[in-house]
Amino acid sequence: MKVPFIDLKAQYVSIKNDIEEAVAQAIDSCAFAGGPFVEKFEKSFAQFCGCEYAIGVGSGTEAIWLSLLALGIGRGDEVITVPNSFIATAEAISFSGAKPVFVDIDETTCNIDVRQLVKAITPNTKAIIPVHLYGQMSDMDQIINIANQHDLFVIEDACQAHGATYRDQKAGTMGVTGCFSFYPGKNLGAYGDAGAVVTNDANLAQIIRYLRDHGQTAKYEHKAVGWNARMDGIQGAILDVKLKHLASWNYARGLHAAYYNRQLEGLDGIRIPEKLSANSHVYHIYSIFLENRDDVMEHLISKGVHCGIHYPIPIHLQPAYRQLNLAKGSFPRAELNSQMQLSLPMYPELKEEQIAYVVKTLEACLMPKSKPVYISKKTHHEPQSILDKVVATR
Ligand SMILES: Cc1ncc(COP(=O)(O)O)c(C=O)c1O
Repeated sequence: MKVPFIDLKAQYVSIKNDIEEAVAQAIDSCAFAGGPFVEKFEKSFAQFCGCEYAIGVGSGTEAIWLSLLALGIGRGDEVITVPNSFIATAEAISFSGAKPVFVDIDETTCNIDVRQLVKAITPNTKAIIPVHLYGQMSDMDQIINIANQHDLFVIEDACQAHGATYRDQKAGTMGVTGCFSFYPGKNLGAYGDAGAVVTNDANLAQIIRYLRDHGQTAKYEHKAVGWNARMDGIQGAILDVKLKHLASWNYARGLHAAYYNRQLEGLDGIRIPEKLSANSHVYHIYSIFLENRDDVMEHLISKGVHCGIHYPIPIHLQPAYRQLNLAKGSFPRAELNSQMQLSLPMYPELKEEQIAYVVKTLEACLMPKSKPVYISKKTHHEPQSILDKVVATR
């Protein structure tokens, strides 16, 4: 049996007619860059999140970057985040001119360790960007308390958490802004790149609106130096169709995760991240942790089960961040996770028999040594050899 890591085609087929009609309408009205289809989606998305404003932009990276710029954060400032995110979180900080400062993660949730947060705050700290990794929100009450005590902004990286909640409050709406990616593989994915900032602050919303459009407040009147960070009209039209399905897609992900949990909990050699009791999780990624991750992954791939690693190299150890001089060992938990984490197939259209096959295949490589169903000749893989097999996903 083949089990893809994600199946964008299956989802497209299920909504094909509506998508084609929406795309045809957007093309027919020539509303290509921004425009009414983006505005309609912005209203629907703000309503979905339960907040006042949503501003469509070109990507999740731009959503974070423009949030920082709108808050006046830049050179000489420090912004705290985690080292086990997609690199975009740190890149957005760097592109604002500020310095990313990392805090290690909590080993049970894989989100920022709030116990270590205060130690990372300096007189230059301006903001905290918690990343709601894998689809569950960070410990927001604690983060907001600390931010209030130290007069810091909280910008939520909700790029993996569309529709997740913390004490019934939707991801993206607890910080001063919330940033979403609609990269195709996300829980709400466009058919190309797109993103959004959500906020309840009218002034910030206005600034982000003009920053995403070359700082333009009226035709050819440029109040500030901005950028071209608009959302495409076609993406707005597609996202508006897909948004109507997001709650049921998230529900399906939750069922699949519950099934995985039931089968995997208690098995020797596997650790499953914990969910905070305050959270509802939207399982953008279903993560497990294993000592022999690379061997297991190779075995799964050989049996047709495609997996991912999120993320194989923590940001502080990436060549791109060499200048921060953060040696191996700086963030031991994030580093350990990068060696042990494995993402199993997860998408709403996944079938129960596929999950059963994933579990069965996985169990085979966890079997006792007396049943050598799977014996690896290699004990250690060069990182690249395993990365070559990872399905392209963020
Ligand atoms: C946690 C996180 N932050 C930021 C981003 C950047 O989003 P985008 O790829 O839309 O720029 C992504 C996704 O790729 C992400 O997963």
